Amino acid sequence: MDIKSAQFVISNTDLEKCPKGSLPEYAFIGRSNVGKSSLINSLCHKKNLAKTSSRPGKTQLINHFLINGKWHLVDLPGYGYARVSKSQKKVFQSFITTYFEKRKQLINAFLLIDIRHEPQPIDLKFMEWLGENQIPFSIVFTKADKLKPKAQDRNIAHYKQEMLASTWEELPPIFVTSSLHRTGGEEILKYIDLLNTEYLQNTKV
Ligand code: GTP
Ligand code: MG
Repeated sequence: MDIKSAQFVISNTDLEKCPKGSLPEYAFIGRSNVGKSSLINSLCHKKNLAKTSSRPGKTQLINHFLINGKWHLVDLPGYGYARVSKSQKKVFQSFITTYFEKRKQLINAFLLIDIRHEPQPIDLKFMEWLGENQIPFSIVFTKADKLKPKAQDRNIAHYKQEMLASTWEELPPIFVTSSLHRTGGEEILKYIDLLNTEYLQNTKV
């Protein structure tokens, strides 16, 4: 699937004001600065559709983008950013939590992980929380351009080991991307296409 049109729809912290209707949607979540907004831009072939910054904490709202007039991509604020005040962090967390718990249109969350780092407790905990809440998710490793293929493989293997050793019997789909080199996006879009088709089949009477 290619993205032919991508439009910003609305930003807010209020689930009630997110787009109504039954279009399937896919949310990008992960630590601040991991590259969520950059990946959305890379997938959509647009430089500034989602706002990016080298400083963590750029995205602060739930942002809906309409793709090909048929589904939504959602850019969310990151977690784990130490310089946001504690009270602000709580507000972030509560509306993000509500989004995941209540948003019926959400088909799959893409949990982004910086490929350079060792498995981090905050990400593993978030995965567990998604699992407990029965929210389907996939893992997307970002910034692959920063590591040589061997180091990428080593870090991914380490992540898989860690997940299997802790909570998971089965691993979720895993994607490896670089927004800088624009790699890995096609596989994500193919997967979304598959999930969209399944969703449409299931909603047909
Ligand atoms: P918040 O909105 O703050 O949570 O961050 P985010 O996850 O949306 O990250 P964002 O897309 O704003 O990118 C953060 C920084 O990482 C920016 O400086 C990007 O240019 C850089 N970046 C993102 N993706 C890549 C990538 O694939 N490769 C490289 N080298 N840098 C990247
Ligand atoms: Mg962002």
